[in-house]
Amino acid sequence: MPVVHAVAFAGSLRKESWNKKLLRLAIDAAREAGLEARELDLAEVPLYSADVETVGFPDAVEGLRRAVREAAALIIATPEYNNSVPGVLKNAIDWVSRPPNAFDGKIAAILGASAGSFGTVSAQHALRQVLVTLNVLTLPGPRVFVAGAAHAFEPDGSLKDPRAAEQIRTLMQRLAHTTRALAPQPRPAPLG
Ligand SMILES: Cc1cc2nc3c(=O)[nH]c(=O)nc-3n(C[C@H](O)[C@H](O)[C@H](O)COP(=O)(O)O)c2cc1C
Repeated sequence: MPVVHAVAFAGSLRKESWNKKLLRLAIDAAREAGLEARELDLAEVPLYSADVETVGFPDAVEGLRRAVREAAALIIATPEYNNSVPGVLKNAIDWVSRPPNAFDGKIAAILGASAGSFGTVSAQHALRQVLVTLNVLTLPGPRVFVAGAAHAFEPDGSLKDPRAAEQIRTLMQRLAHTTRALAPQPRPAPLG
């Protein structure tokens, strides 16, 4: 089966971020499913300003846009801030969405971990709305909501709840399958 490529990012800058841990579990599961995912860090992405954009995309933004453009799929792990996506994530998405929208036609899997007992239900709902606007096909499930995240991980980064680990594996298998089925395939070289 041909390997397909994804980019993966978490909407957190925290060194010990639960969402970065979750993202890495998803990246490992994606690899097992034949989807090579490259992790991107949003730390260097500046705040969006139309004045800056007029002069040109900053290097960190250009790098992010290129990585998204070249990938067939996206894996996004989002924390939840005030029932929505954190500014860090929305800001990065806003830069990448500027014309030509680098998200156009991508296939995405989303997941999230938060301190509260709903485990990013509201943030993921908000993220889906944004991604629909950008013509991203977001997989409907299985939905991965890691609640009470401070107590959800083992010291080695694995999840204590085996059902959540299984949901991640299934989500990544579906992402690999859907991406292979829907992403534009490279054209074979013309004969003769
Ligand atoms: C401004 C702010 C708002 C927050 N709002 C919520 C919330 O609505 N629901 C929730 O479960 N946790 C909320 N939290 C706690 C987050 O769950 C937690 O900080 C975050 O998920 C950590 O993710 P990370 O470890 O990936 O950085 C909030 C935290 C901050 C800083």
